[in-house]
Amino acid sequence: MINVKVLVSDPISDKGVEILKNEFDVDIATGLEPSELIKRIGNYEALIVRSETQVTKDVINAGKKLKIIGRAGVGVDNIDVNTATDKGIIVVNAPEGNTISAAEHTIAMMMAMSRNIPQANASLKSKKWDRKKFMGVEVRDKIIGIIGLGRIGAEVAKRAQGMEMKVLAYDPFISPERAGDLGVELTTVIDIVKRADYITVHTPLTKETKDLINTKEFAVMRRGSRVINCARGGIINEEALANAVREGIVSAAAIDVFIKEPPFDSPLLELDRVIVTPHLGASTEEAQVNVAVTVAEQVVNALKGFPVKNAINMPYIKAEAMQILEPYFPLAEKMGKLCMQLIGTNYEKVEISYCGEISEQNVAPLTLAVLKGLLEPVLGAGVNYVNAPGIAKERKIKVVESKSKTIEGYSSQVTVKLSKKNEEKLVSGTIVGKEPRIVQIDNYRIDVLPSRYMVVAKHEDHPNIIGPCCMILGRNNINIAGMQVGRLNIGSEAIMVLNIDSDVGDEVLDEIKSVDGIIDAKRVVL
Ligand code: NAD
Ligand code: MLT
Repeated sequence: MINVKVLVSDPISDKGVEILKNEFDVDIATGLEPSELIKRIGNYEALIVRSETQVTKDVINAGKKLKIIGRAGVGVDNIDVNTATDKGIIVVNAPEGNTISAAEHTIAMMMAMSRNIPQANASLKSKKWDRKKFMGVEVRDKIIGIIGLGRIGAEVAKRAQGMEMKVLAYDPFISPERAGDLGVELTTVIDIVKRADYITVHTPLTKETKDLINTKEFAVMRRGSRVINCARGGIINEEALANAVREGIVSAAAIDVFIKEPPFDSPLLELDRVIVTPHLGASTEEAQVNVAVTVAEQVVNALKGFPVKNAINMPYIKAEAMQILEPYFPLAEKMGKLCMQLIGTNYEKVEISYCGEISEQNVAPLTLAVLKGLLEPVLGAGVNYVNAPGIAKERKIKVVESKSKTIEGYSSQVTVKLSKKNEEKLVSGTIVGKEPRIVQIDNYRIDVLPSRYMVVAKHEDHPNIIGPCCMILGRNNINIAGMQVGRLNIGSEAIMVLNIDSDVGDEVLDEIKSVDGIIDAKRVVL
């Protein structure tokens, strides 16, 4: 046994605890107050949690010996992954172990809601024999709209098809080919809310998915729809849902997850037509064994110095190679994010080429960083260096990596090219000193320090275009920190890259797009 201490602070299956106990000194202390956890955490190398323990910045900062945090489940929204990464603490999760349980719970909620089972059960137990009140509906031949067609969404689709339902889906990151394999019709959120009898969400909670279904969507929703959330509280706005139920737009809802848990103040708890469960999606014997065993095995591997399967934040790289590659990781991730936001969705191929000195290194971890950057804007924190290639493969995105010793202007250069039908997008970058630089977008040579917020606009190369764009930003109180223009020939087309200090938002972007001579403008958040 290595002299290592592990704290398990949420209930996990004994099978996982056994694996840990075979190797380490394990303490189980569930239901700790935050202050108590902060007091104790300094003694431990590893912390294992489910969703109850909030692994905050303060907890991580107090964990002076912490090397790894294991999450027995998928979502890591209860862990401050950024602080853990800053401190070099590996965060691992168990993303696959509870997929089937969560999908089955979704189906169970759909059926319970369709046949009023919880309400009928409560009525009969209060000694009422009321058969008329609980008239239900069949699901056969009904349309179900699945928002988020990842692991759980796909399993829900299969089960719904088994019940002879027609499946619509919205997932900006699923290729038409994958949707075809699953036999579902890919469409938009608005089309789903207008057409579907049942709407179920299965995305992570990200900036983009927060309030994905809100007042605007309820306003156009098919009257009498039924709504399910077994993913994360907040994807469907709770107040807006409660209003839609009161107004009869939504005839019933089934909710397992809440913006605040326990949700004792949620308006949803007051409505008879809303059935609720206390975050039970993964609460099956099978899922709990799966996730506990997966997470325990990873903690054992990581603490013994072996690579781990589901590291959320860091790959394992040898110290010597790390010295050379280190500045390229944030660059590669940013290039992936930038290129993805420039091409939009449904791309089919990514080509990553390494030229010059960098090509002499093992660049595979950098390819993972590019993939992580590509996938993260839609998948959230669940994508990591280890699972990114698998996710890309599952989504039928072809990944091509190439190396060339030829120097193309810079001693080392990394190029990411994304392609889909009739469109290609290319972004090239390098490191100058220790700073990342974007040196090419499509055919345009530039020299841009990637910043958190940017606008990339293609425009005609003549006067009175850049000025009006800057005026629009100024009028909207958006500070410009840097600007670069690249062009091929005088008077042809050019590209303008603006580094700005805050996000532009859709309205300001639309204003920029309407400037005479602007061909296209994209908002980028890195
Ligand atoms: P996943 O990563 O396999 O799938 C998520 C899907 O959402 C991806 O395909 C992604 O492309 C898609 N997506 C991302 N942004 C989107 C957007 N803006 N619009 C539409 N689709 C978008 O994850 P998963 O394992 O299927 O888990 C799905 C959710 O279920 C997560 O939030 C997870 O935390 C939650 N979950 C809940 C329980 C529970 O107990 N209720 C159990 C397990 C998982
Ligand atoms: C998860 O993200 O895995 C789920 O919310 C399940 C859980 O932690 O119980």
